[in-house]
Amino acid sequence: MTERERTQVRVGPVAEFRDGDRRIIDVGGTQVGVFRVDGRFVAYENQCAHQGGPVCEGQYYPRMEAVFDDTGRSLGERANYDVPHLVCPWHSWEYDIHTGEMVGLRGLKLRAFQTEQKDGDVYVIV
Ligand code: FES
Repeated sequence: MTERERTQVRVGPVAEFRDGDRRIIDVGGTQVGVFRVDGRFVAYENQCAHQGGPVCEGQYYPRMEAVFDDTGRSLGERANYDVPHLVCPWHSWEYDIHTGEMVGLRGLKLRAFQTEQKDGDVYVIV
């Protein structure tokens, strides 16, 4: 895409987003979910790779990891807050919110949009 073809769609003031906040906007008839995660913005089309569900309306959680001791005995689970998962509300497919990758099949990704901050506002680039 050349610089001339880029369109900035204003989402809103950066100051209105606390970490973990999201907003779903309409971009020319396409719903786009914009998230502030760990201080940066990511944006994905609000369409799950499974059956098109409104994935950006799902909750997100830390990745749950199994913990084992040296002998392989399970010690339970722990929450890894460095890797939040966005969970589709229809059938619970999970996506890494940092990358848009489906957790169970890394080659499958949500359609991502670039984001930009300028003069105190956040934009989606289409
Ligand atoms: S449509 Fe998202 S998990 Fe099925």
